[in-house]
Amino acid sequence: MKLVYITSEIFPFSKTGGLADVLGALPPAVAKSGLPVEVITPLYGRLKTNDYPLRLVAPDCPVGYPWEPITAEIYQSQYRGVTVYFVQRDEYFDRRSYYNTYKGDYFDNCERFNFFCRAAIQWLHRLGTPPTIVHANDWQTALAPAWIHFLRQHDPFWAGTKTVMTIHNLAFQGRYSSRLFHESGLPAEAWDMDGCEFYGDFNLLKSGIAYADMVTTVSPSYAGEILTPQFGCGLEGILQKRSGSIRGILNGADYDVWAPEADRYLPSCYSAGRMTGKMWCKRKLIREFYLSDMLEDRPILGFIGRLRSQKGIDLLIDIIPRLMKMGVGVVVLGEGDLRAEAKLLDMMEQYHGQLSVQVSYTEDLAHRIQAGCDIFLMPSRYEPCGLTQMYALRYGTPPVATAVGGLKDTIVPYPSPDATGFTFQEPDSKLFYKAVKTAVRLWEDRYYWNAMVERAMSQAFTWDLSAARYLDMYRELGVDV
Ligand code: ADP
Ligand code: GLC
Repeated sequence: MKLVYITSEIFPFSKTGGLADVLGALPPAVAKSGLPVEVITPLYGRLKTNDYPLRLVAPDCPVGYPWEPITAEIYQSQYRGVTVYFVQRDEYFDRRSYYNTYKGDYFDNCERFNFFCRAAIQWLHRLGTPPTIVHANDWQTALAPAWIHFLRQHDPFWAGTKTVMTIHNLAFQGRYSSRLFHESGLPAEAWDMDGCEFYGDFNLLKSGIAYADMVTTVSPSYAGEILTPQFGCGLEGILQKRSGSIRGILNGADYDVWAPEADRYLPSCYSAGRMTGKMWCKRKLIREFYLSDMLEDRPILGFIGRLRSQKGIDLLIDIIPRLMKMGVGVVVLGEGDLRAEAKLLDMMEQYHGQLSVQVSYTEDLAHRIQAGCDIFLMPSRYEPCGLTQMYALRYGTPPVATAVGGLKDTIVPYPSPDATGFTFQEPDSKLFYKAVKTAVRLWEDRYYWNAMVERAMSQAFTWDLSAARYLDMYRELGVDV
């Protein structure tokens, strides 16, 4: 009996976004139940392993067809009660970034991640204990359920293994030419519209959706949304076919990492009963981001995220001039789109002292922005779950967000008496601006605002709760965990 998670990112070793946070927290939470839990992930050149020494456990794990002569090196580490295996093959994983450069995706991503899935499967076989569950995450690992589906037809080792495919973001599918399917080593029968084929292309995420025993997404609302053409990204057809096996399980927030009362990145810690620390965090943020001291008495609005259309960065850019007129401060931390970056940096010059933009990916700054801001902005067009709004709630920074996906499932919107934040119905800059205006007006009402902050900080999206739901889902697959 063992549970195995396959992932292309795991915090604190590797991270480009929420996927890493989830895989850094869910396996340890599941392991608390006493079950043996393993994670398999690539060994990137830029891996952060200072606190967790790695040990070489296999210098020559064969990867098999179609990589017959090629092997992977497997390293092992222990992390919060979980055994993590790292698959090393430098020509694939020792690169400046994980998946792409500013010019676009790496040309061999299909080969890289098929290699990774094959190596993971071969390594599991070599370990000798058949996994009870193999749980894949996003397109990078979506071929694992497909491979296992075909392997278990003739290899008794895999006969009892169930597979789960979790969709963290349906927009990233790993779509390649049919030639790469024929070179992948998967059997010809997988080239089917109910399998790996998608309008004549090879679609990795679709393959995982088609062949996994269970498909999950990271919030109940998103699980419903992906069945519609608006949010289905072209995969709504296969998802509708599989709808009996789709579950929406809300992510948790890792309160060991995101805790204002014990956050080593903050100049001063604080909690619901002792809020002066938050004021110091705001002062420090004002200095760190070269904002005007006048903003000590005005709300500061924060944005952290990939500068992409998903996150509605264009909506924020749209309303910045109006926000500046309102006399509030705005802090943006993000990277990802050259045009948005340039536009924001340009605006920063224009609104010096009131708008501050940091184009980078900097973990400690994310913590200080969550703590030092008054209001958190998340105008996403779609949001499978979203973790930053959960962190914002815990840091007493009520979010203003679009009412989609996981944002809808985690924010109680004003004017409910239990409100923890603000939502608006459509990703539209007028509606966004209106919602921000309401939030700023209420921020001025200190009595109301303090009560809302207290409610926000008391929300608990614990991983223990989510892990219990995942275990229920594994049980639905007939597994005795
Ligand atoms: P997504 O996975 O879609 O990017 P989530 O809200 O689920 O969105 O998770 C984003 C994670 O990445 C959070 O931990 C957030 O703090 C972090 N993050 C995003 N952009 C940056 C950045 N520029 N610098 C530091 N952390 C970032
Ligand atoms: C994706 C989604 C985000 C979610 C994260 C973790 O990156 O965009 O909404 O929180 O995965 O599941």
